[in-house]
Amino acid sequence: MAFGKRPAGQVNQAPVNNTPGLAHMPTPEPQARPHNPAPEARQAVPADISASAKADISGAQTASASALIAAMSKPEQYVEPVKSHSDEYYRTKETIYNTLLDTIDLGQLAQVDAVEARQEIREIITEIITIKNVVMSLTEQEIILEDICNDVLGFGPLEPLLARDDIADIMVNGANTTYIEVDGKIQRTNIRFRDNAELMNICQRIVSQVGRRVDESSPVCDARLMDGSRVNVIAPPLAIDGPTLTIRKFKKDKLRLDDLVKFGSISPAGSRLLSILGHSRCNILISGGTGSGKTTLLNCLTAFIDPSERVITCEDSAELQLQQPHVVRLETRPPNIEGSGEVTMRDLVKNCLRMRPERIIVGEVRGPEAFDLLQAMNTGHDGSMGTLHANSPREALSRVESMITMGGFSLPQRTIREMIVGSIDVIVQASRLRDGSRRIINITEVMGLEGDTIILQDIVTYEVKGEDADGKLIGEHRGTGIGRPRFWERARYFNLEAALGQALDELEGHV
Ligand SMILES: Nc1ncnc2c1ncn2[C@@H]1O[C@H](COP(=O)(O)OP(=O)(O)OP(=O)(O)O)[C@@H](O)[C@H]1O
Ligand SMILES: [Mg+2]
Repeated sequence: MAFGKRPAGQVNQAPVNNTPGLAHMPTPEPQARPHNPAPEARQAVPADISASAKADISGAQTASASALIAAMSKPEQYVEPVKSHSDEYYRTKETIYNTLLDTIDLGQLAQVDAVEARQEIREIITEIITIKNVVMSLTEQEIILEDICNDVLGFGPLEPLLARDDIADIMVNGANTTYIEVDGKIQRTNIRFRDNAELMNICQRIVSQVGRRVDESSPVCDARLMDGSRVNVIAPPLAIDGPTLTIRKFKKDKLRLDDLVKFGSISPAGSRLLSILGHSRCNILISGGTGSGKTTLLNCLTAFIDPSERVITCEDSAELQLQQPHVVRLETRPPNIEGSGEVTMRDLVKNCLRMRPERIIVGEVRGPEAFDLLQAMNTGHDGSMGTLHANSPREALSRVESMITMGGFSLPQRTIREMIVGSIDVIVQASRLRDGSRRIINITEVMGLEGDTIILQDIVTYEVKGEDADGKLIGEHRGTGIGRPRFWERARYFNLEAALGQALDELEGHV
């Protein structure tokens, strides 16, 4: 191991919270950093937004904490219904569509090049419209032409949504209801399928591309579109109101840390701190709710991995796009229709260890693989990273603990906690706020064990200050006055001490 982990059980600060379990230190006393100016009296910052954290927030912190809690507790979904096509439109489309099916041989069409096939279909439909004397404007004709071409050649009404790069998620709840997420907000669209049978057909077409099947007998299916988008289908009878399709669109131009700074997801100094964590091979856990930007953040952090390192990624559905030359990508496999052949995340992470990895990146930790990842982090694979679903850094560690316990490892609680503090250096907490923006709300260090209690220490927190006229939240990333985080020595080892000192000073507002 290039840079040994600290032994468990040593802490350099006493916990402010004596409750058993995982203690958080929202506003620890600043430690002096000799060559840096002493931090001024800091504004109180909320540690996190979980229920337990709310209980921890002391009186001095209440103002800012309650602002953040209020901001986070409002419903995140803003539904903007939009006008759908008229029933008349669907009747006309059905007539044209049925005549088209009588006219062409779909089997033959599949042999033809897609552009040619589309052109041929357009010509036939135009003819049908003339023969049947359908009255419509040129614009309406164009819409119906595209619509039918998409039905015959692609994923039907989904095509226009799939073509847009600004959409993050497509959520189809039965034939008549489709929502999309744009700019962090959920909107209802005018997309409708002829009926549930058509929607089911499209779901089937999507999953069959990756050799899977979805029907009444196996109504749940994960798949991937050819462009890399992540797909989940759940069909009746499990989905009561019709086939339900969820697509996390694959972004061709993945966001980089600079983009996150531009969006205000992290401040410039905060982003430098993240880059130092990445460079200096800290073991990082990225925590956050669904769609909070965890995978994006993980992808950004992998940019700081040295090109000479051998990196192995393990994912359920390959989403990460590492730019380094020496990357091995692994993907889990669900069981086949007979229930065999499954390869779990744990299988992958265990196998990884036999592949001479220098860093292991786990797309999402959700089960017993947590144990293997921690072991890897603790045994010479410094700089490993993973994401998990949790609402605060403290909750992230509780989840790791329960994943290990539920994975059947009969280890005493203290041993598990020793493993956790001996392996995870930093937790980065992501969140989607009520204005739809995604932000890093905590960068938190795992300090060590005090008795049976894991001590956490925030280094950066996000403080909501208000709201502008458009309802956009105004806030600020602030340092908590930690002069010398635990990873200081690590940064020094990688020659990044000065950069770290400067980033911390800037976060304190001293620069
Ligand atoms: N900081 C950000 N600013 C704006 N958009 C973002 C930001 N981070 C992520 N996104 C966008 O939000 C969407 C969801 O991001 P991502 O897949 O990283 O979330 P996630 O937390 O991994 O979701 P899941 O829990 O479903 O795995 C993507 O379309 C991504 O491009
Ligand atoms: Mg993700």
